[in-house]
Amino acid sequence: MNTSNKDLNHKIHQNLAPSLAQDWPMILIESAQGVYLNAPDGTKVMDFTSGIGVTNLGHNHPKVVNAAIEQMKKVAHSAVGIVIHEPILQLTEVLPTVMPANMDMFFFGNSGAEAVEGAIKLARYVTGRQGIIAFTGGFHGRTYGAASVTSIKSKYRKHYHPFVPGIYFAEYANPYRCPIGDTPEKAVEWSVESIHRLFKHFIPPEEVAAMLVEPVQGEGGYLVPPAAFHQQLREICDQHGILLIFDEVQTGFGRTGEMFGAQTFGVEPDILAVAKAIANGYPLSATVSSREIMSQWLAGSHGTTFGGNPVACAAALAVQEVFAEEHILDNAKAMGKLFYDGLVQLQQQHEFIGEGRGVGMMLAMEIVKPDGKKTPDAETAMKILNSAYQAGLLGYMAGPDGQVVRFIPPLIVTEKEINHALEILEVCLQKIDAK
Ligand SMILES: Cc1ncc(COP(=O)(O)O)c(C=O)c1O
Repeated sequence: MNTSNKDLNHKIHQNLAPSLAQDWPMILIESAQGVYLNAPDGTKVMDFTSGIGVTNLGHNHPKVVNAAIEQMKKVAHSAVGIVIHEPILQLTEVLPTVMPANMDMFFFGNSGAEAVEGAIKLARYVTGRQGIIAFTGGFHGRTYGAASVTSIKSKYRKHYHPFVPGIYFAEYANPYRCPIGDTPEKAVEWSVESIHRLFKHFIPPEEVAAMLVEPVQGEGGYLVPPAAFHQQLREICDQHGILLIFDEVQTGFGRTGEMFGAQTFGVEPDILAVAKAIANGYPLSATVSSREIMSQWLAGSHGTTFGGNPVACAAALAVQEVFAEEHILDNAKAMGKLFYDGLVQLQQQHEFIGEGRGVGMMLAMEIVKPDGKKTPDAETAMKILNSAYQAGLLGYMAGPDGQVVRFIPPLIVTEKEINHALEILEVCLQKIDAK
């Protein structure tokens, strides 16, 4: 690639929609391998974003790349239905062995938003009910149905009204910021009460098709709720014949230290939306459910042209082999703990870190003003991100105010790399203190 910075800037702003082109930090890369992004000038950056939870096995894992290449040589596209191919069928047999119980029937798509759309449509179709309860601060994607259940930022909804009707929002259990008390118990109580308020004032439970929830809120700021939150949702759904949908687009495929958030919290959903890391970078997603539920979704009621692409399915099969052969979950748990402990230590040293938190390899620091009121401080969060990036560590922002600095390292990261990342952070945070 032979593009000067001036050229690049011009092309980005001339040719890419500003809705996309004003993101941060817009690094021009030539290649990527494992934990590293490689720029054309030879500089390397440690990628602790994993393309927002996609390249969980590191960039260009050789086994996944080879599987994709071999499949490409055979056939690269099949509109599933007109023809069928071996990788998709194999995948339907492999995935249930690592998924929560009864997740054994699949509708494959291309993106996370599509998987969420499928989940909502399936829930409405099989229950004959219209209501969907989603949670404040959630993010589910940019297509209309997915944007309609998204409430992290009003910016994502501005100018797009009206949204899909029949959607109601309850409170997510956030023990760091709970209006009735910052404890796990109060956070669960606050959330459950908000659901009962919806039932009482807005929609009776018998008209609710599904509750849609992220096991850990991703874009919302890596908010890890108490397990009791998900257990209570399960109970309320069972009581009223409501389907529980887990959006595991970001939590899925090892990110929480288990293969899925459902396993981390010990709660089984009725429908699962997965995407991102399923094929380590090749576009693939799935709406998944039990045979009992999904077999009611009759012919022609949902479809796709590209979904279940053979190359992406072959890559997804290789991903599962790598998870088993390289004991990826063990590494995710161990390295996640190392990083988490480091963040908690940093929190103790710097007043502006309100909370160091996370689960598995979803790790974050919430940045607040030192005013004793937990006022979100996006400006300092951005300074930390910029300074870490200058030192060779790429993280990303999250949270409704952009006040959260999050890290999404590839699950193959080594102890040496985690320690290096923590050293970089320590220096950056000291610089902030010194100002
Ligand atoms: C929890 C969750 N759901 C859905 C999506 C949308 O996925 P996609 O961007 O692939 O449509 C995202 C993307 O970040 C996500 O984090």
